[in-house]
Amino acid sequence: MSTSMQAWRAQLLRFDGAGRPLYDSDGLLITAQGADGVRRVVDAGAHDAVAARHPGLAVEHLPGRLIAPGFVDMHVHYPQLDVIGSPADGLLPWLENYTFPAESRFADPAHAAEVARFFFDELARHGVTTALTFATSHPASAEAFFAEARRRGLRMIGGKVLQDRHSPDGVRDATEQSLIDTEALIARWHGQGRLGYAITPRFAPSCSDAQMLGAAELARRHPTTWIQSHVAENRDEVRWVRELYPEARSYLDVYRRFGLLRPRAVYAHCIYLDEADRRLMHETGTAAAVSPTSNLFLGSGFFDYAAAQRHDMLHGLASDVGGGTSFSPFHTMLAAYYVGREGQSKTGLSLAPSNLWWQHTGGAARALGLAGTMGTLQDGTEADFVILNPQATPLLARKTAQAGNLEELLFALIVLGDDRLVERTVTA
Ligand code: GUN
Ligand code: ZN
Repeated sequence: MSTSMQAWRAQLLRFDGAGRPLYDSDGLLITAQGADGVRRVVDAGAHDAVAARHPGLAVEHLPGRLIAPGFVDMHVHYPQLDVIGSPADGLLPWLENYTFPAESRFADPAHAAEVARFFFDELARHGVTTALTFATSHPASAEAFFAEARRRGLRMIGGKVLQDRHSPDGVRDATEQSLIDTEALIARWHGQGRLGYAITPRFAPSCSDAQMLGAAELARRHPTTWIQSHVAENRDEVRWVRELYPEARSYLDVYRRFGLLRPRAVYAHCIYLDEADRRLMHETGTAAAVSPTSNLFLGSGFFDYAAAQRHDMLHGLASDVGGGTSFSPFHTMLAAYYVGREGQSKTGLSLAPSNLWWQHTGGAARALGLAGTMGTLQDGTEADFVILNPQATPLLARKTAQAGNLEELLFALIVLGDDRLVERTVTA
């Protein structure tokens, strides 16, 4: 028996590849470190059955606790940590008055390093083990992000923002140099440990044609990298894109024309899409990062879940801090429930608690092109997980004690939960 094996006994939540929850009220999770130093699940399921296959293995017993996959945040801006809760009359004034000034400080590597440390501490406190992350336009900000993630052995994806127009001094980059910097960062960080690089054109209005074409060229040359951007978040933004690209069929079509839709391309928001856009998302394997707290805070609108499901569009949940108001996956899942329910501007539906949870774990991993790698606690996947305490507050204890089935238990955690639920975050 390998001495690197570790075992935990508790309630256990996993997912199958199709997003169905697998729950053991008395579960056992066994992990072992691979030759690459990464810890993976080797066996999991009902305690008695799993334990019988591993006689003599020392087990950490966690009575009353729930083990679940680590949360995956599909879209977050680490440099916007200090922008959380900045009120504005919508996206564009918010960017101009709060976000760009805050991001301009990331030219300073010491500031970037300090914020990166705080950011990863905060993710861990909230049970988030993987995040697709924007840095700023300064290469030093991406450097700080990757260096700190590497130090902690995390599976993280990020990239330097590209924005060479319609951006103020201090955050605007230079076309040629921005692409050179991006390629150097890919060479240095993509595939190092569990790190991945995301080519990051901020959004169509902030990138020249040359920068967009250069980004797409890099994405073709490095097909395992990610692409991340924003699309169709806000009505004023959509109008602006229509003025800038009158020849494009839609906002999403701008990205298609430049060659920026493909598997591992992730677009935040995706609110103002039409049916042809959704078909295009599906056909190209492009994913939506649904950011409900941000969309509610900035008054952007409501993601149409029924339409996304109809088109089998890849999608998952995201905090979008600092437009978003919380790093907590529980707050994000609850906001996603509200957004799903909203039935005045679109079809309202009640998303199942296990579906909300899937969107923030295995479903997000799948949307990132990482199905089978992490997010489900299936055998062979990376052992990034959370240990939750359903008794963390008096009301949580009272409510979860009354849960008659898994959906009721998960909904109690989603509605009442926050960082107090997260007793421990374990990363592979
Ligand atoms: N669109 C372009 N940049 C941003 C940003 O930083 N946050 C959000 N929510 N939308 C954007
Ligand atoms: Zn964003």
